[in-house]
Amino acid sequence: MSEYVKFEFDGQLYEFPIITGTEGEKAIDIAALRKKTGLITLDPGFVNTGSCESQITFMDGEKGVLRYRGISIEELAEHSTFVETSYLLMNGELPTLEELTNIRVQLNDQSLVHEDMQIFFQNFPRGASPMGILSAMVNALRSFYPELTHTEEAINKTLLRLLSKIRTMAAMSYKISRGHKVVYPRADLTYCANFLNMMFDNPVNPYEIDKDVVKALNVFWILHADHEQNCSTAAVRVVGSGRVNVYAAISAGIAALWGPLHGGANIAVFEMLSEIAKNGGDVKYAVEKAKDRDDPFRLMGFGHRVYKTYDPRAKIMKEMVDTVLPKLNIEDPLLDIAKKLEEVALKDEYFIDHNLYPNVDFYSGIFLRALGIPVNMFTVMFAIGRLPGWIAQWRESMDDPHWKLNRPRQIYIGPKQRKYIPMDKR
Ligand code: SDX
Repeated sequence: MSEYVKFEFDGQLYEFPIITGTEGEKAIDIAALRKKTGLITLDPGFVNTGSCESQITFMDGEKGVLRYRGISIEELAEHSTFVETSYLLMNGELPTLEELTNIRVQLNDQSLVHEDMQIFFQNFPRGASPMGILSAMVNALRSFYPELTHTEEAINKTLLRLLSKIRTMAAMSYKISRGHKVVYPRADLTYCANFLNMMFDNPVNPYEIDKDVVKALNVFWILHADHEQNCSTAAVRVVGSGRVNVYAAISAGIAALWGPLHGGANIAVFEMLSEIAKNGGDVKYAVEKAKDRDDPFRLMGFGHRVYKTYDPRAKIMKEMVDTVLPKLNIEDPLLDIAKKLEEVALKDEYFIDHNLYPNVDFYSGIFLRALGIPVNMFTVMFAIGRLPGWIAQWRESMDDPHWKLNRPRQIYIGPKQRKYIPMDKR
């Protein structure tokens, strides 16, 4: 039975259909709103606005549920690998063994980066942000590997090329930034092991692949792989809606992720915890400061637009930190501070009333530092993990029959019409 919403405006009654999702979420379909009523909606930050219908990721913010193509993040973190989860997100189903083997071979075949690209990396200032470099270099990839769009297979080749090379470029950027020799990908290593080896192998201390660390990195990237219509995914869809090439759309997503309110929060959390540590570990002061409306300070790694309970990814990340650090014989004082901060905040009335809980970024920096990832690459690690989600969302938008050029409207509140005033009269 179709559902409708009715409202009266300017003496006339209007009705608009209600759309119901697979999990019972409901939306008012206002596609004909302006045509029928002359009205538009106004919703700063799109807090109440859906941009699309999607089959990729489901989140229930009240219950702390996250599923990729219907499979829970908990099950994927326990049983899957990042490559398998990427296949699931991009294709809609878990791969057969043959399909998984095929994608692995393609990712290996595509793992090298054109030697001329090293010149780009070598010419960025040493202190350049790895996120700025990554966004620029993903855009530059198109100059070396123009996207192939003539067949399904060609499109998949372009997308897998991007998925494979982003990891090589990130490691290459790191090595060059340190003045070290670039380490090339190896065909005998899996996606995550290859990245770690490209990052840390060197002639003096050859990198030893630790299967527990590789498994943990798989989980880290699985946790970051998609998150429905977050800021950076929305950027990928908006930029992609102009029918630009996929590299440019993904580059826009990287730029959007960079900000400290979004993916850049993993660096901001680390800086916040370090500051608390420097000030003697007084977590109560940080909590009080975060509650002060006149103070722009926010508890980084806390709060979320959708989750109004503990971010399920943060739970898994916290468990992972508790197993990986002891395994690596690492004691990170910031972990104790993070746990104390979480304990105090979760008991605080303001945080309870505002439904503020740890999100994916709260513990991730502690995990990454334990792996030896430099702080300025924390958000790059988020970007690599999110790439399969951006690709899946971009592809879904390109194939969506209802998809249009994204062009929001506005309510103008500037001056009414007025005359031009010549300079001598001003
Ligand atoms: C990610 O969207 C996604 O899915 C993103 C992400 C993904 O996987 O793609 O999950 C990844 O970006 C996680 C979020 C990382 N960012 C941070 O950790 C930065 C700190 N968090 C906040 O800035 C904030 O919680 C946001 C930006 C994440 C969400 O904020 P909203 O939904 O825009 O809400 P808001 O800023 O309007 O805050 C609502 C209230 C305000 O208080 P009132 O004025 O209503 O009294 O909650 C307060 C805010 O002051 N508040 C916080 C707070 N977050 C919100 N107060 C203190 N500390 C915080 N962290």
